Amino acid sequence: MKRAVIRGTGRYLPPRVVTNNDLTQHMDTSDEWIQQRTGIEKRHWIEEEGGTGASDLGLEASKIALDKAGWKPEDIDLIIFATLSPDVFFPGSGCFLQHKLGLDSTPALDIRQQCTGFLHGMQVADAYIRSDLANRILFVGSEVHSTGIDISTRGRDVAVIFGDGAGAVCLEGIETDKEVGILASELHAKGELAESLWVEVPASRENPRVSTEMVEETRHFPKMNGKVIFKEAVRKLPEITNSVLEKVGLTKDDIDLYIPHQANMRINQFFQQSMKLPEEKVFHNIQRYGNTTAGSIPIALDEALEMKIIGEGSTVVFLGLGAGVTWGAVVYRFE
Ligand code: UT7
Repeated sequence: MKRAVIRGTGRYLPPRVVTNNDLTQHMDTSDEWIQQRTGIEKRHWIEEEGGTGASDLGLEASKIALDKAGWKPEDIDLIIFATLSPDVFFPGSGCFLQHKLGLDSTPALDIRQQCTGFLHGMQVADAYIRSDLANRILFVGSEVHSTGIDISTRGRDVAVIFGDGAGAVCLEGIETDKEVGILASELHAKGELAESLWVEVPASRENPRVSTEMVEETRHFPKMNGKVIFKEAVRKLPEITNSVLEKVGLTKDDIDLYIPHQANMRINQFFQQSMKLPEEKVFHNIQRYGNTTAGSIPIALDEALEMKIIGEGSTVVFLGLGAGVTWGAVVYRFE
């Protein structure tokens, strides 16, 4: 049977570190508020002058993942690039990354699934591999949030949360009778809540797509109904985890590590408590990076492997909920 297995992972965080105290220079907030409500202590942002897009961060993470996999860029059959902060409105960041990797005809598919970009990417990669459409896939989740958030007091509920960063994963199809690789995945969306976390403009339904007036009204900055998203997350994450585990006949105790999207440490603590899991079974790194959206799960995976919390034979569940709203979970077992 064809299975999709991970051959290498990588992460890249831009060097500039922005602490909670640094943010108090721009807005009315405090280290205490941010840590109490979210668990975040600091995040990485690109340099203030800009010039770095999602594909640039993705390139650095990709180089590390390719190196660990022992692949050259030419070995890649398909690039899947997940981001909500593409380099430009179009074409996709995957095309920019493909060129930066020195490739000239490898297909590049962008997916716009925000916080569940990695989960969607894993399911797409698994389907491509199982159907023999591609055998070596580079997945990249990358975000540059810092150039698109309102860092005044008006935007503080959103601005303190987001960080820049990228994670990359090399996936390969193998023929095996063993229960390894991507074992199961499940995805959902509830478009009714699309406006609970969104960036309204530039928009094809507006003419012009963006105007000075829209910018003055700050409609180009992300807006979030934090409480709605929080409530959805604490309800849906245990539900989908139990559902995906049932698909593969595993129990919650068969899992060595749960790697949730890093949106808010409180959400992930609620998840751990409602699933009655020991604290050490749920991975957190939001303290250091904030919410890097499509980058968050692959960055966390890379760190968990580096820290040797997981390795050969480990079974993990990746899970998350975010804008859309979309939510999902993937069960993965290392060879
Ligand atoms: O990955 C994408 C998915 N996103 C999420 O999962 C986010 C889910 N939601 C959350 O994490 C939380 O809702 C937040 C952390 C965003 C906000 O926490 P909250 O407990 O829901 O706070 P709130 O928005 O209800 O605001 C409470 C108070 C308000 O003041 P008043 O009206 O009580 O006087 C806000 O104005 O906190 C104020 N506030 C802040 N104060 C200091 C909001 N943001 C800040 C801030 N610093 N950064």
